[in-house]
Amino acid sequence: MVNPIGDSGGPRHVAIIMDGNGRWATQRGRPRLFGHHAGAKRVREVVSGCPEFGVKYLTIFAFSTENWKRTQVEVSGLMSLFRRYIARETRALFEKNVRVRFIGDRVQLDDKLVQLMDDLEQQTKSCTGVNLTIALNYGGRDEVARATKRLAEDVKAGKLDPADVNEETLPRYLDTHVLPDPDLVVRTSGEARISNFLLWQSAYAEYEFVDTLWPDFTAEELGRLVARYGTRERRFGGVAV
Ligand code: IPE
Ligand code: IPE
Ligand code: MG
Repeated sequence: MVNPIGDSGGPRHVAIIMDGNGRWATQRGRPRLFGHHAGAKRVREVVSGCPEFGVKYLTIFAFSTENWKRTQVEVSGLMSLFRRYIARETRALFEKNVRVRFIGDRVQLDDKLVQLMDDLEQQTKSCTGVNLTIALNYGGRDEVARATKRLAEDVKAGKLDPADVNEETLPRYLDTHVLPDPDLVVRTSGEARISNFLLWQSAYAEYEFVDTLWPDFTAEELGRLVARYGTRERRFGGVAV
């Protein structure tokens, strides 16, 4: 199944791999966490730019299932940044009519953080503007494995017939089940890889790899990428007409 694109011909759903915080800090002779703080500050502006560009869904990669491999100092600094960020931004997000959701495995996250995530989701539940999805402790393979486990449980419980497992039913078990697939995936910092982000969902996404380090990324740059997307021809395996 493919998604219709936005009315304007622009991407309805943009997903961003926010990379390069560490290098941004190192270039300034500062600890990596300084870069993560600077990166978190960029999110507000980028979210604010979305309505103007016709972007209805924005999904951002904040922490991967592989990021636990980093030093304890960096991991705990990031977790505390997430807690502070959520507590600080909840009101502003609500006032901007932004509906926030989280994807990823919450089981390994600390209770306080999970509580803040739940509260933010609840408090913005009635918002009808931009849909902001934050991928936190998210990995595409992990997501497919967790989905498969739940699907198998439904089969075992007689709720799902194996004959009905297909491209329509399987995604209902993914964390992203209420979201359309991304039309455009952007990665900052010059790396041209997807690092386990939205593997199933990005099957037909367009990709943009830009050199800008995430703390330098602006709404204006997003606007340029959105405009360029409008010039691309998406064929979904068919033939140009
Ligand atoms: C992205 O920036 C943020 C996270 C992965 C949490 P990095 O921390 O990966 O920055 P670089 O890639 O080391 O510059
Ligand atoms: C991907 O960036 C994860 C996030 C942006 C949260 P990484 O910096 O972790 O990816 P690799 O290690 O370069 O593949
Ligand atoms: Mg990185």
